[in-house]
Amino acid sequence: SKPLKVALLGCGVVGSQVVRLLTEQAEDLAARVGAPLELAGVAVRKLGRKRDVPVPEELLTTDAHALVTRDDVDIVVEVIGGIEPARSLILAAMAGGKSVVTANKALLAEDGETVHAANRADLYFEAAVAGAIPLIRPMRESLAGDRVHRVLGIVNGTTNYILDKMDSTGASFTDALEEAQSLGYAEADPTADVEGFDAAAKAAILAGIAFHSRVTAADVYREGITEISASDVASAKAMGYVIKLLAICARSDDGRSVGVRVHPAMIPRSHPLAGVREAYNAVFVEAESAGRLMFYGAGAGGAPTASAVLGDLVAVGRNRLAGTRGPSESVYADLAVHPVGET
Ligand code: HSE
Repeated sequence: SKPLKVALLGCGVVGSQVVRLLTEQAEDLAARVGAPLELAGVAVRKLGRKRDVPVPEELLTTDAHALVTRDDVDIVVEVIGGIEPARSLILAAMAGGKSVVTANKALLAEDGETVHAANRADLYFEAAVAGAIPLIRPMRESLAGDRVHRVLGIVNGTTNYILDKMDSTGASFTDALEEAQSLGYAEADPTADVEGFDAAAKAAILAGIAFHSRVTAADVYREGITEISASDVASAKAMGYVIKLLAICARSDDGRSVGVRVHPAMIPRSHPLAGVREAYNAVFVEAESAGRLMFYGAGAGGAPTASAVLGDLVAVGRNRLAGTRGPSESVYADLAVHPVGET
C-alpha cells in the first residue's frame, strides 16, 4: 500500500538514530507495517549543522509547525524534549488527526492531561520511560487486567552510570558526570538527570499508568544525587551496600492513595538492583495476580531509545492501516496522590 509519511521533530542523539534505522531497515519495516514508512521531513533548530547521521538536505526544515500540519503527513515523531515548542507541535499534529510518537517524559509528566485529551488517533510513548525497555506497552496492555500495587526501580541511566562509576572506581561525582555526558547519556542540561527531575517525570508517568490515576511531576517527592560524595559511596560499600537512585510508586494498603518518590537509597549488594551497572535501568512491577515482574535493559542512549521509537512507529503505522487505534489513557481511579508513600 501507499507509504505512511513520517515527520520527525528533532535530530539530536535520539532523532539521528531514528533516521538511521528508518533508512537502514526500510524494507523490514515496510513488511512489518504493511506499507513503507517514509520520512517526510526533519525539523531542526539550525540548518547546516554537522549531524551524527546524514540527513538528505531536502528533508531538513526549521519550520516544524508547517511540517506537522502538512496534509500528507500521517505520523509525527517528537524527540525534541521539553515543554515548548513540543506541546504546541504535538497539539497541532493531533488537531490534524496525525498519530503521535513521543519520547517526551517532561511534557507527559507535566501536562499529560492536555496531550492525552487532544489525541484523536494514537499517542505512543514507549521511549519516554526507561529507553529501550518495553515497559509502557506491557503496563498499558499486558497488565491491563491486573491490579498493580507497586512500581520500583532505576529509571535514569545517567545517574546510574555516575553512581556506578563512583562505586567501582572511587571517582568523584563531577568526574563521573563528565564521563556520562561525553557518552551522550545525560540530557543537554544535566540538572534534569542529577537532580532527579528526569526520574521524577518517569515515575509520574509510570504511576499514572499503573494506578489509572492522574499523577504529575509536581506530585513526586524528589531528591537527586548531587550531594553524594565519594566517601558516602565508599562507606556504603564497606557496609555491603551500593547507593542507587530509586523511583518508587506505591498504592497505599487501603488502595485509596498513591505515593511517588525519587531519592538515593542504600541497596544491599545481594539485591538484583545492585547489579544494575552503567546506564542500564531496571524496574520491578508488583501486581496482584502476576506477582513480581522485572524489566531490565538499556535505559538511555541514542540507539536504544530509537529502538523504542521505532517499535511505536510500527505499532501506530499498523493501526493507521487497519483504521484502528491503540490504547488510550484510561483515568478512572480517583486516588489521592501524595509525595511519600508506603513501600
Ligand atoms: N537522560 C536520561 C537518562 C535519558 O539518563 O536516563 C533517558 O531518558
